[in-house]
Amino acid sequence: MNAHIKHSADATTVEEGLAIQEEQAKFDDDFATETAMSNTLLTPRFYTTDFEELDAIDVTPVRAEWDALIAQMESDPNKGHFKKNEDWDHVDWDGMEPKLKAEFIDFLISSCTAEFSGCVLYKEMKRRGSNQDITQLFQLMARDEARHAGFINDALREAGLRVNLGFLTQSKKYTYFRPKFIYYATYLSEKIGYARYITIFRHLEAHPEHRFHPIFKWFEEWCNDEFSHGEAFALLMKTDPKLTESFTNKLWIKFFLTAVYSTMYVRDHQRPAFHKALGVDPDWYAHEVFTKTSVLTGQIFPLMLDIEHPRWQRNLVRMQKANVQIAEAKKRGGVSGFFGNIAGSAKAALAFVSLYTIPAIKHQVPESTVLRPAY
Ligand SMILES: [Fe+2]
Ligand SMILES: [Fe+2]
Repeated sequence: MNAHIKHSADATTVEEGLAIQEEQAKFDDDFATETAMSNTLLTPRFYTTDFEELDAIDVTPVRAEWDALIAQMESDPNKGHFKKNEDWDHVDWDGMEPKLKAEFIDFLISSCTAEFSGCVLYKEMKRRGSNQDITQLFQLMARDEARHAGFINDALREAGLRVNLGFLTQSKKYTYFRPKFIYYATYLSEKIGYARYITIFRHLEAHPEHRFHPIFKWFEEWCNDEFSHGEAFALLMKTDPKLTESFTNKLWIKFFLTAVYSTMYVRDHQRPAFHKALGVDPDWYAHEVFTKTSVLTGQIFPLMLDIEHPRWQRNLVRMQKANVQIAEAKKRGGVSGFFGNIAGSAKAALAFVSLYTIPAIKHQVPESTVLRPAY
């Protein structure tokens, strides 16, 4: 790379961060971009919403907390952090066990897509809005996500791969979500992202022999960014108490919690070699992440899922097996594949209903939503 080209880690705006990444793109790898393009229920999606409604939010009821959060994000403690430095150890991609390599690359591509999906949504909100508070927040969050995506692309490039972000923006299908669903889904994905990254980071701090790639060293600052993004969405939801208090919306919150948790469980269980290399039992990891996420989301959600309920683990496993069945049926194709797919989907749906109908734990939301990253 030319010395005069800045790195996306140093970019102060999302536009600059993305432009740098476009310039760096010497070649596009079809495999990585195709993987990122795939739209199944489990892969990260791109979202669009009613930007006008979002733009109309008035943050006056949470002004003091809002200004403090924005000031902290403006101070930009992680500027320049997301790039390779002397802590970046050499990665022996060729010597990596093939199954681990395949799963790890899949992990990097889907993480990069998820980061970029956030980036695109936030950037669009910033572009379309005229509400100074909202556009400022979304500009700051888009800035962070562009850096995160850029850093994962740095790691992929060493393996001869790269996700073509410009192409993804143009070509990936966008799913429309009403603003309130964007709040629930995005808030949850930011908080569960924090819980996932910090759990791996703390585990590898205690067991550095399992750190098979240097990118995990960056997870602490990384998850602090996601933590702040989650704080912002908690404040946005707090401006309208109906969002978390009405009967229907509580059902929606429970739905999103169940969907996000079970998707994570199924997706992680598709990567056994990756978790083995990290020295992490995926069932332990899931339980740990759900526990942390439940505590965190108690800042704004008036209910928590009962993950100790006997039906919980049993149905996660059923759902995961149903997904294996669906994947195998799709591979098989033909008539038997068709029926296998239907049978698997029916089993997955039943397991989901069983999870969703576990009585939730009612919970008293605290006066102030403000939290510090404490794990
Ligand atoms: Fe991120
Ligand atoms: Fe984020």
